[in-house]
Amino acid sequence: MTVLTKPEVIDTIDELRSRLCLAKQNVAAKGGDAHVVLVPTMGALHDGHRALVRRAVAAGDIVVVSIFVNPLQFGVDEDLDTYPRTLETDVAALAEEGADFVFAPHTREMYPDGAASTRLTAGAVGGLYEGAARPGHFDGMLTVVAKLFNIVEPDIAVFGQKDAQQVFLVERMVADLNLRVRIEVVPTVREDNGLALSSRNRNLDEPARTAARSLSVGLTAAAAAAHAGVPAAIVAAHAVIGAAPLVKLDYLVVVHPHTYLPVDDDYRGQARMLVAAVVGSTRLIDNISLDIP
Ligand code: PAF
Repeated sequence: MTVLTKPEVIDTIDELRSRLCLAKQNVAAKGGDAHVVLVPTMGALHDGHRALVRRAVAAGDIVVVSIFVNPLQFGVDEDLDTYPRTLETDVAALAEEGADFVFAPHTREMYPDGAASTRLTAGAVGGLYEGAARPGHFDGMLTVVAKLFNIVEPDIAVFGQKDAQQVFLVERMVADLNLRVRIEVVPTVREDNGLALSSRNRNLDEPARTAARSLSVGLTAAAAAAHAGVPAAIVAAHAVIGAAPLVKLDYLVVVHPHTYLPVDDDYRGQARMLVAAVVGSTRLIDNISLDIP
C-alpha cells in the first residue's frame, strides 16, 4: 500500500511561509528552479478543481492549494454558512493529485481584526453580471486573492474558466497592480451531459440537475448559431434555456473578451457568452467562447 505523505495541511500564514521557504531551498539544493504554483479554492473540491491542481503540478515545482471560504465575497443573504466544508475529503483528493501544501486558514487568521477594512475594488465590470446579482462579491474575491498572492508569493496561479468574469478581473488586477504572478486558465470541466462542474451542483435535486443541463445546451446552441451574428447566438441560447422548467434566467450576455462589456449586435470576432440562472434554488453560472465571423 502506498502511504501518501503529501500534502502538508497548514493553517497559519507564518507556518506556510516558513515551510515554503524550506521547500524552495530543498528544490534549489537539487539544482532546480523552485516555481511555486497556487490554486486558490473554497474547498468542496470536484473534478474541476482536480484539473486545476493537475495543471499546477505540471506547471511548477511546489504546489499550494488554498482552501478558504472567504466571507468577504458572500452577501448577507448568501450561502456562507451552508457553503459545503469538506476538508478531510478535499485533502484526500489533493493527496491523489500531488499537491504539496494545503493552506486552510481559519477566518481569524485571514481577517484578525474582523472584515478587512482595506479592500480592492473590481471597478465597473465588477458591478456587472455576477457583480450586479452579488454586490461586493468581486471586491471581496479580489481582496482575498491579493492576500493569498502576498502570503504564498506564487510564480503561477491557476483558475478555472468556469468563473470567466472572475478570471477576467483577476487578470486585470494582476496587470493593474503589476503583480509578479502569471495566471493560467484551465477549461471548464463538465459532466458527460455538459453540466459544468460546480461545488453548488451538490445542492441540485434530480429535477433541478436535469434542468441545469439547459445552460450548457443553450450555450452550445449559441456557439453553433454564432456564424449568423450576435443576435442569432442570443436567440439560440434563449430558445433552449427559456424552455427549461425550473430555470429562472438572471442574465445572458455576449461580452468582448478584452473589456467584458457587452458587444453590439453587429460585432464580429471572438466573444464570450455568459449565463447565470437560478435552477430550483441554486444559482449557477456558465460561459462559452463564441467565434462570430
Ligand atoms: O473561485 C473561487 O473558489 C473563489 O472565488 C476564490 C478564487 C478561491 C477566492 O475566494
